[in-house]
Amino acid sequence: MYSRIIGTGRYLPERILTNLDLEKMVDTSDEWIRTRTGISERHIAAEGETTSDLAYHAAVEAIAAADVAAETIDMIVVGTSTPDLIFPNVGCLLQERLGIAGCPAFSLETACSGFIYALAVADQFVRTGQARRPLVIGAETMSRIIDWTDRETCVLFGDGAGAVVLDAAEAPGIIYSKLGADGRYRKLLETDGGISNPPEAGQRAALHMKGNEVFKVAVRTLERMVDEVLEANDLKQGEIDWFVPHQANLRIIAATAKRLDIPMERVVLTVAEHGNTSAASVPMALDTGIRDGRIKRGDLLLLEAFGGGFTWGASLIRY
Ligand code: UT7
Repeated sequence: MYSRIIGTGRYLPERILTNLDLEKMVDTSDEWIRTRTGISERHIAAEGETTSDLAYHAAVEAIAAADVAAETIDMIVVGTSTPDLIFPNVGCLLQERLGIAGCPAFSLETACSGFIYALAVADQFVRTGQARRPLVIGAETMSRIIDWTDRETCVLFGDGAGAVVLDAAEAPGIIYSKLGADGRYRKLLETDGGISNPPEAGQRAALHMKGNEVFKVAVRTLERMVDEVLEANDLKQGEIDWFVPHQANLRIIAATAKRLDIPMERVVLTVAEHGNTSAASVPMALDTGIRDGRIKRGDLLLLEAFGGGFTWGASLIRY
């Protein structure tokens, strides 16, 4: 048994923060942000709007697109590093709002690779017959862990959620998943506090990144990973129909696309309008490409992500 995608959805909070807005907050410029990252604007959750709120809207849209009853969902897997609460996990909060009690619901925290990890996990449950119709989400409120005085990070991130409904099928679907991690790089991209290691009294945990060093490892790792995915599946450069990358930086995306020998017209890009939404970026890009009609049934897709940990992953999919 395999899994295939039967519906996708996304949700972006209403408020848009532009590069020009950021010029008034920190010492930066629209020109610097656009040329170094490709980002023009990002969405920011409203006060009181949580990760599970964003995830809920994306899930409702994906379930409607799949044209199935919510009650037929038999597993919820959420990739997020910005959960509403320590527990219940975002999957359980979502399950309650969807009114589908009973099925397993959990979150996993692998930063920007959260959705790729969640998709691989859900796929394994379908392959072993333990689930037939998982709901897989990537959702983040990155704005809550941003230091809004740090120009090196605050210009990069945004909030959002993307969702996918999978269904058991005779043929793939998800052809191949590749996951990896290297904790030796933990200091290059991390938050300065959590639960068992809290930030100083009165402070909230904030994200810190040595951007330039992350950039170099990201490009190297993603190039190696896409080579491995092609080789493991007996594919040649140029045989992928659509590349759906994590949207951290246009220059990283362009380097990986070059390695795949895929023209930029065949890359789904949302980085300009969404910024880096961590685990939400890949499913939102996927939904964008499907809804605007570019990605068609039968197309061969390569999804990838790289993020804090470091963690990384790829998914080869026949849509
Ligand atoms: O999603 C998880 C993984 N994350 C990523 O993949 C992000 C990877 N990294 C990047 O995308 C890029 O490294 C950044 C966009 C973060 C930075 O771009 P860069 O080309 O690597 O720039 P840099 O860090 O080498 O900084 C160049 C200059 C520095 O000034 P000096 O030292 O040359 O005088 C920075 O202080 O740009 C300066 N700078 C800024 N200037 C204006 C850094 N941030 C800003 C800013 N506005 N916001």
